Amino acid sequence: MSFNRFHDDDDVFTPPLNRVDTHHEFAVDSEPEAPPEGECWSSWEGAAHGPKPRPDWVVTDLGAVEEDLGVLKTGKEADVHLVRRWVPAVEGRDVLMAAKRYRSTDHRLFHRDAGYLEGRRVRKSREMRAMRTRTAFGKELISGMWAATEFETLATVWAAGLPVPYPVQLSETEMLMEFIGDADGVAAPRLAQARPPVEVLPVLFEQLREAMLTLAELGWAHGDLSPYNVLLAGRGDDAHLVLIDWPQVVDIIGNPHGPEFLERDARTMGDWFTRHGFEVDHGMLFGDLMAAALSR
Ligand SMILES: Nc1ncnc2c1ncn2[C@@H]1O[C@H](COP(=O)(O)OP(=O)(O)OP(=O)(O)O)[C@@H](O)[C@H]1O
Ligand SMILES: [Mg+2]
Repeated sequence: MSFNRFHDDDDVFTPPLNRVDTHHEFAVDSEPEAPPEGECWSSWEGAAHGPKPRPDWVVTDLGAVEEDLGVLKTGKEADVHLVRRWVPAVEGRDVLMAAKRYRSTDHRLFHRDAGYLEGRRVRKSREMRAMRTRTAFGKELISGMWAATEFETLATVWAAGLPVPYPVQLSETEMLMEFIGDADGVAAPRLAQARPPVEVLPVLFEQLREAMLTLAELGWAHGDLSPYNVLLAGRGDDAHLVLIDWPQVVDIIGNPHGPEFLERDARTMGDWFTRHGFEVDHGMLFGDLMAAALSR
């Protein structure tokens, strides 16, 4: 897998890499040694790592290799790939992960970037200007900030015990996280496409309610919660919800529109349950969540 920092062809930013000095007596090898298997060496080294205690399944070995197994889903702002990382000749050190790669094109949250950037400390005015004027470099920086924001949020909510994918690592505009799906690489369906039996709905709703309450106790609303951002993992008695897509969490109290976002999240999810045969009073859910946020 390659971490292509700058995908835009129109304005290529050239980082000050150490290039091969052809005049030098001992030229530097520009082709590092290829791995024995897979496409490349593990990208663990040099990336920012997820929160501890780290789950056992995370492969951190220096000798690990990686392979991109293809696209799970392309979206407007990001593509999600399936990535395998394993240690050659070591049984059991073999894991599938989901790689969310933010694109540097205009995306859905673009109009919110300005407000978002104001709240962030971007030290270099050159970078601030690039983001404001939306040069390719500026867009790349913004994509990196969204990736970092989602990664940091996932780390916090994972540590708080929410049912979310474990955030494994962050490098540039790519976030690697726990793959939610089966061992063959088939991703768990989104709630919007799943048809859980009606008798499971009360259990699933309780899971959702608890997750939203824990989140509200942290002071946050997801901000884009819908049956498209909730995966139905496991089968039978093990069926459980996993909440994904976290770059836009909203501070319920601090953001003047916080309660509106929370209300929308509660209504969207409540309506889905009601439509599928388990009646949910989303107004009541919203009230409980507001109370949780206010009692922090
Ligand atoms: N950890 C994961 N495990 C399995 N599948 C995942 C995972 N994360 C994301 N996906 C799949 O990729 C899709 C897109 O992910 P996500 O919602 O985070 O990105 P997005 O850019 O917001 O996409 P969209 O515009 O479709 O909402 C999800 O709907 C889901 O099908
Ligand atoms: Mg999504």
